[in-house]
Amino acid sequence: MTTRRQANSGILAGALLAAAPLRAAAGIAQPLKPLELPSPRTEGGMPLMAALKRRHSTREYSDRPLGTQLLSDLLWAAFGINRPSGDRTAPYWRHIMVIDLYLATADGVWLYDPKAHALAPHMQEDIRAQTGLQDFVGTAPLDLVYVAHGERMTDVTAEERRLYASVDAGFIGQNVYLFCASEGLASVFRGAVDAPKLGRILKLPEQQFVTFAQTVGYARG
Ligand SMILES: Cc1cc2nc3c(=O)[nH]c(=O)nc-3n(C[C@H](O)[C@H](O)[C@H](O)COP(=O)(O)O)c2cc1C
Repeated sequence: MTTRRQANSGILAGALLAAAPLRAAAGIAQPLKPLELPSPRTEGGMPLMAALKRRHSTREYSDRPLGTQLLSDLLWAAFGINRPSGDRTAPYWRHIMVIDLYLATADGVWLYDPKAHALAPHMQEDIRAQTGLQDFVGTAPLDLVYVAHGERMTDVTAEERRLYASVDAGFIGQNVYLFCASEGLASVFRGAVDAPKLGRILKLPEQQFVTFAQTVGYARG
């Protein structure tokens, strides 16, 4: 039985974020494989009011990796399925699933699949530095990128598409902030992103677009 503290330490967490720098340092390019996440721990954590008291933005990160159990919990809290209906921990516009979560890490980019609670490999490259205009984004262990499916947002103007997609991303972002506060992690939601360029780097289809990004890791010091 893994305690929350053990899992959060990253020591027991195994593969994903922890192993990447080692593989990179050894010059071993291993193809990304789909990663089934451990079941999220959906009980416990800090009382809501205590987490709200601690929520804040951080812009200095250590390179300490996140363990897979913690990552699993984080993604579930962010936008996981919390009801048999398939609905999510965050509300979303018109009951249309518009936002995808991409994870930019040292060993590549994954796409979160909430139904399978798994990570699908998206690309091998370390694109963290391209996920924002601030230096820390290139060294923090995880940059989430909130990508909108514009093609699913019909009967609205381009401006409304941006607006509703941004609100959807903002709700997810607050879930991430509160989870991080509860778990002693650091985070910052970010709009300082060259979104068109990042969309090209991610090779997004034409109608999909980057809304915001959010860094997650451990505060330096
Ligand atoms: C829409 C939005 C965009 C933001 N963009 C950035 C950003 O690009 N870079 C950054 O460091 N912080 C960014 N922030 C974080 C804010 O600067 C931060 O929340 C604010 O200064 C209040 O600080 P706090 O989060 O610690 O309470 C953004 C926040 C929001 C809501």
